Amino acid sequence: MNVLVIHGPNLNLLGSRELSVYGPATLEDVDRVLRAEAQSLGIDLEIHQTAREGEIIELLHAGADRVAGALVNPAAYSHTSRAIADAFRAVPYPVVEVHLSNIHAREEWRRTSVTAEAARGIVAGFGPGSYVAALRALVKVGEDT
Ligand code: DQA
Repeated sequence: MNVLVIHGPNLNLLGSRELSVYGPATLEDVDRVLRAEAQSLGIDLEIHQTAREGEIIELLHAGADRVAGALVNPAAYSHTSRAIADAFRAVPYPVVEVHLSNIHAREEWRRTSVTAEAARGIVAGFGPGSYVAALRALVKVGEDT
């Protein structure tokens, strides 16, 4: 089972960015935790980070014939991007939206995720553990379908 992981804008700055919100873990730390979980589940991960909306969409399209699912943290695009939401709808595999922080406990504008409307599910608020929980959920979706 191959799983695509896409980290959106500003997530490359984890570990120095808004520490009181996102904590001290770097993106490398997040990926290390996720890779360890994937290894124990026998899953191959393909991990990308990009600040560009169009690249997120292109990565999703490119996964169509080779991934069983995707974990995507669209970061701030979650709150604005109908184009990424449509890409979630367009691909033939389930997409789980991931957020480190609990977006529903933050500023009003973050409480709406337009991309989450198109995701199979959403995990938010557990720091790097959000990705681990999302990966487990994705495996369960695969087993149930
Ligand atoms: C985030 C939450 C978003 O609102 C924010 O723009 C991010 C990170 C999270 O993982 O908690 O960049 O997606």
